[in-house]
Amino acid sequence: MTQEAKRNILVTSALPYANGPLHMGHLVEYIQTDIWVRFQKMRGHQCIYVCADDAHGTAISLHAEKLGITPDELVKNINAERIKDFSEFSVEFDNYYSTHSEENRELAETIYLALRSAGHISKKTISQAYDPEKHMFLADRYIKGECPRCGAADQYGDNCEVCSATYSPAELKNAASTLSGAKPITKQSEHYFFKLSEFTDFLQKWTTSGHVQPEIANKLAEWLDSGLQDWDISRDAPYFGFEIPEAPGKYFYVWLDAPIGYMASFKNLCDKRDDLDFDTFWNPESRAEVYHFIGKDIVNFHCLFWPAMLSGAGYRTPTQVCVHGYLTVNNEKMSKSRGTFITARTYLDHLNPSYLRYYYAAKLNSRIDDIDLNLEDFCQRVNADLVGKVINIASRCANFVKKQGGVLSSENSEPDLIASFAEQASTIASLYEQREFAKAVREIMALADKANTYINDQAPWVLAKQPGQEQQVLNVCTVGINLFRLIMLYLKPIIPALAEDTEAFLNIDPLQWHDVNTVLLNHAIQPFSAMLTRVDPKKVSAMVEASKESLAPKQQTIPADSPLSKEPILDEINFEDFAKVDLRVALIANAEHVEGAEKLLKLTLDLGGQTRTVFSGIKSAYSPEQLVGKHTVVVANLKPRKMRFGLSEGMVLCAGPGGKDLWVIHPDDGAKPGMRVL
Ligand code: MSP
Ligand code: ZN
Repeated sequence: MTQEAKRNILVTSALPYANGPLHMGHLVEYIQTDIWVRFQKMRGHQCIYVCADDAHGTAISLHAEKLGITPDELVKNINAERIKDFSEFSVEFDNYYSTHSEENRELAETIYLALRSAGHISKKTISQAYDPEKHMFLADRYIKGECPRCGAADQYGDNCEVCSATYSPAELKNAASTLSGAKPITKQSEHYFFKLSEFTDFLQKWTTSGHVQPEIANKLAEWLDSGLQDWDISRDAPYFGFEIPEAPGKYFYVWLDAPIGYMASFKNLCDKRDDLDFDTFWNPESRAEVYHFIGKDIVNFHCLFWPAMLSGAGYRTPTQVCVHGYLTVNNEKMSKSRGTFITARTYLDHLNPSYLRYYYAAKLNSRIDDIDLNLEDFCQRVNADLVGKVINIASRCANFVKKQGGVLSSENSEPDLIASFAEQASTIASLYEQREFAKAVREIMALADKANTYINDQAPWVLAKQPGQEQQVLNVCTVGINLFRLIMLYLKPIIPALAEDTEAFLNIDPLQWHDVNTVLLNHAIQPFSAMLTRVDPKKVSAMVEASKESLAPKQQTIPADSPLSKEPILDEINFEDFAKVDLRVALIANAEHVEGAEKLLKLTLDLGGQTRTVFSGIKSAYSPEQLVGKHTVVVANLKPRKMRFGLSEGMVLCAGPGGKDLWVIHPDDGAKPGMRVL
């Protein structure tokens, strides 16, 4: 291997919004980035991985308001959870910060002022929808009304999902603010704009000089050809963000300070570490490298606005923006009802994070294709490769070594075989470097097959039964363990936790890439203990079930003075929809507790000839004895739903705020089971 000069590399992943939990989709990005960073570190480069919570914006302040806390508190709560989730998935940042920080405020101001003095900022008065009750301007997604073209109800501010018309929110009929229900008025306000169009030539060049993948360059060329609009970077108070210098009541739009958050997190780290210097990385002539890993939904911000802002303000631009596709689960969009919207925490409650890291790596490439988490394939792949091929090598050899005193042979009986493994280092390294992880995994698994073939052919378990073959057995197992060590070295960026177990088992220092050149001989190892068990498909199913549960709408009591009680009812259905619901009187023939269920009772309902089993979340209000023999109202034509405790064939209706105040009983006034309720 030729010695590469030491590189200085700064790497970022997109800053996750602070208003929701991390999920499997996010993890595609953070695991992909972490693998690349770990690879660079193993190679001996200085590689710094920073990230932060994206704290600002209306979505976050509204979410905090709903929870009755300040945005600051929301961000802090989420931050603690995040850091734990990331670390359990072995996503190791050098710094994890927040965009709501002093460093970010200073940098955002500096960059804005630099852009302003270079003439890249303009002011324009615009008209915008305004909520007269909430006293705030409304982004399009906070306005609903009837489509001006086809009349469909419940369409959001700028496009109709029914007829695909696009329009301005002012054209919506019977428009209402989704925040208060009030009718929006149109109000004028002065906004600040970043004159993006002035950067057209710069961007034409930048986007075609190897900083983005070819597919992205093509997409960007389309946007550039159709002409760039100036970018509105201000929002009016109330807004959770940074106030714009010399513009009271005007705030930076969240997407202005979010990417600056990358710099701010790095700055915060530089202030803590003597060996890092902010300007060395960010000056316009910097030789350091900067890589941003992002999903395909945020390309315009990273490949147009961001490089233009940096260049306009006198900083270096990114070396590369690495865009990945979206995650699907079982080939469909993640879905709360199917239980495939799996949060990082729910996964961790059921499964080992190394499985997921391996599975994602086995699927990732340098393109923008979406990647699919197929849960069946996930079990098979992890079991066949990691457990069946890789760990198996060590478990087949370790015991024979232990029986002979736990020290590897002093002789390398297969120098060519071991050398052939070491020779793969440069191929595998270049695949990692290019983010072709699936290809790297394929190369590594081919080596694992080769190692298993060698052990099969030598059959140390047969040799061990023949007298006088002890040295031969030890030699074979020493070769086997050395092959295992090289495979684990190659896999270390992907499954660092298992690599660490391997280092403990082999009694060696943390593996670095250049260690491919050494062979472990005459070296004492530790007893082998299974590092990884097979994926249990039952646990995968339990995880899916738990995802259905944890995201089911929570019952809550809403006090009359809560802002929620004033929320308008927004999702109107028309009479035809309502008429489809078949409501029937049912006799509760039996009611019983469900083992392991906190809220559910299992009801047997008599619908006048038909019997149905329904699981109903009414345990807080009734004991089974209170219900048996009573009448209730049931949605009789609800599609049966598989629940954790069995099939539920309908739904019992109830009224009340929740808890013990929940009423399901229909007055016993001569109603016959099966009768339709009008
Ligand atoms: N806050 C912005 C990023 C600001 S960066 C200066 C944001 N946050 S996010 O939480 O919505 O997404 C964070 C990252 O996760 C983004 O790169 C996004 O593309 C990625 N993903 C979110 N959902 C995803 C999938 N379902 N699949 C793959 N990546 C996904 O955008
Ligand atoms: Zn329409």
